[in-house]
Amino acid sequence: MNVLLDADTIQARVRELAAEIERDYPPGEEIHLVCVLKGGFIFMADLVRAMSPRVSLDFIAVSSYAKSTKSSGEVRLLKDLDSGLQGRHIVIVEDIVDTGLTLIYLQEILRARAPKTLRTACLLSKPSRRQVEVTVEYIGFTIEDHFVVGYGLDYGEKYRNLAHIEVLNGE
Ligand code: IMP
Ligand code: MG
Repeated sequence: MNVLLDADTIQARVRELAAEIERDYPPGEEIHLVCVLKGGFIFMADLVRAMSPRVSLDFIAVSSYAKSTKSSGEVRLLKDLDSGLQGRHIVIVEDIVDTGLTLIYLQEILRARAPKTLRTACLLSKPSRRQVEVTVEYIGFTIEDHFVVGYGLDYGEKYRNLAHIEVLNGE
């Protein structure tokens, strides 16, 4: 096992991000978090529990990866949001920004729904893998080019339930 980020380190950073996000919006205004399934679900769960009751949330699902550790560059919308975004403060909550192709796609389709503001929070970023320039306002950790699993991130739908993040065995 090759632990990259242990559970305590992740928890502490997620609480910092929650505080940072709260500070950036006018007091009392709703912040609507859009979790990108499935990878973002644990990050989202911890993030919202560290935030105030003005938070609301929704889920969207996209697929960019087959059972592989390499991006195909093809993004598909698998599940859309339940409610509209018009005039709202939106924060996309994503597990990791790798090539950036998924986020570019998401930001584009969500921006078209006329939110008041649109920002993005990613727990992890692998800048060395970027194929497109994409803006991410909140980044938990910047990591090297390793395929990582745990804390929502999977390989073939496994390891999402790990409380820490580790480099995939044999990589
Ligand atoms: P991108 O479109 O290449 O930026 O890829 C984003 C998506 O690929 C993420 O939401 C993850 O689901 C998946 N992904 C990218 N890198 C990793 C990794 O190291 N481990 C697990 N999933 C990853
Ligand atoms: Mg994934």
